[in-house]
Amino acid sequence: MLEIAFAKPALPKSGALVLLIGEGEVPSGVWQQANEATGGAIERALKTTEFKGATGKTCTILAPGAGLTRVVAVGLGKPAELTARLLNEAGGHAAAALPRESAASVATGMLQPSQAAEVGLGATLRAYRFDRYRTKEKLEDKPKLTKLTLLTADPPLARSAWEPLHGVAKGVFLSRDLVSEPPNVLSPAEMADRCERLSELGVKVDVLGLRELSRLGFGALLGVAQGSANEPRVVVMQWHGESGNGRKAKSKPAAFIGKGVTFDTGGISIKPAGGMEEMKWDMAGAGTVVGLMAALAGRKAKVNAVGIVGLVENMPSGTAQRPGDVVKSYSGQTIEVINTDAEGRLVLADVLWYCQQKFDPRFMIDLATLTGAMIVALGHEYAGMFSNDDALAQKLSAVGQSIDEKVWRFPLDDAYDRLIRSDIADMKNIGGRPAGSISAAQFIQRFVNKTPWAHLDIAGVAWSTKDAPCVPKGATAFGVRLLDRLVAEHYET
Ligand code: BES
Ligand code: MN
Ligand code: ZN
Repeated sequence: MLEIAFAKPALPKSGALVLLIGEGEVPSGVWQQANEATGGAIERALKTTEFKGATGKTCTILAPGAGLTRVVAVGLGKPAELTARLLNEAGGHAAAALPRESAASVATGMLQPSQAAEVGLGATLRAYRFDRYRTKEKLEDKPKLTKLTLLTADPPLARSAWEPLHGVAKGVFLSRDLVSEPPNVLSPAEMADRCERLSELGVKVDVLGLRELSRLGFGALLGVAQGSANEPRVVVMQWHGESGNGRKAKSKPAAFIGKGVTFDTGGISIKPAGGMEEMKWDMAGAGTVVGLMAALAGRKAKVNAVGIVGLVENMPSGTAQRPGDVVKSYSGQTIEVINTDAEGRLVLADVLWYCQQKFDPRFMIDLATLTGAMIVALGHEYAGMFSNDDALAQKLSAVGQSIDEKVWRFPLDDAYDRLIRSDIADMKNIGGRPAGSISAAQFIQRFVNKTPWAHLDIAGVAWSTKDAPCVPKGATAFGVRLLDRLVAEHYET
């Protein structure tokens, strides 16, 4: 991970320098010093490229003199309109412009120390790269950036603002690592092992294996798992961060549930070969929940939270479940499995019921790469949201907009619930082509009682094929920052 440091403003004598510049801002401080030291090279370059400090605009000046290897101007937009999101994005743009530098100083100009820390977060998130399996890449082709020093009037204050953000960044990275891992490495057992490492952060981790799940009667989840040689796991992660002051009874936990299909072939209802490799990231919901728990623990969030992930591999084999099978879920409700490729909802059904029974949570939010239909509806910009609770839905919408992990609410309705009626069992696992994402959500809702609940279908946003300011292409960790901010803004004591 990029090392983020803070120091008092001073013109660096060598290396790279980033200038964060607001619209209408005039040269002062390090910016002015750099311009003078380079005989006006910076001013000339900004003028030539018509750089005025608009958001998302950058201007790179190579070897301008005064020992500097490069100066990168990054626009902040109108100072009055600055938000944390724009600061993150400015940091992301800066990191993206510096792959050939090993270190850089960032002049933060008019920004407050806490705002400098947000710039550090954005740069860190953008500088992520999963290169564990590249053994032959030439050194000169590898991104070199390892350290960013943010120049700010009060370095200790900035450092204390950075500390919790650093915890969140680590959670995001953990999530991206898990989602990026190939499916031969990341089996349910391997993912459970990686969850267990969260105990180092003070998270209580319990792993349920095949025998325990059979004993409990997780029939829906086990039906999915039975075709694979890799046994399933359910991992329960608890973070008790609420400061118990003795008098107050321990409050109910916030609960996060993730679909963790480590590979989804479709099972007997097998998927076409083209693009099937993408189904390694069918555990992204679980990846987000694990990253979120790491983030909450890493920044010592004052909240009680529980994260539960259902880990299975969906394979076709002689032991695989068949279309037509009827399974009995942990809730007791029976399910006719019409299509073995609609497996995520079967996993979530048992995990949601278990969560509710065992923890009586204040709310439950599940995340799942659940339906291809979600991508048809929303593309790769918004996640689909379904909820039985207007207040919870509204909070998620607002927080999502503020940090650019956006969610769009879809309806739930008895009329859609009718689509999953079965002639032989309590329900069937698909509702047909129309409203495919909604009938999937209706299915899940049958395993939620009165608990406030939201379901996020992240099929379109868990993986990206293009770079965004704070998210390099690949695993996005969508939801880690969204849910971390939701907790921070609404549920911490
Ligand atoms: N994991 C898939 C959904 C998915 C597809 C996510 C493409 C990301 C990209 C899910 O398990 C699935 O296969 N859903 C089926 C449901 C259908 C059989 C009702 C789908 O969407 O085709
Ligand atoms: Mn599937
Ligand atoms: Zn799936």
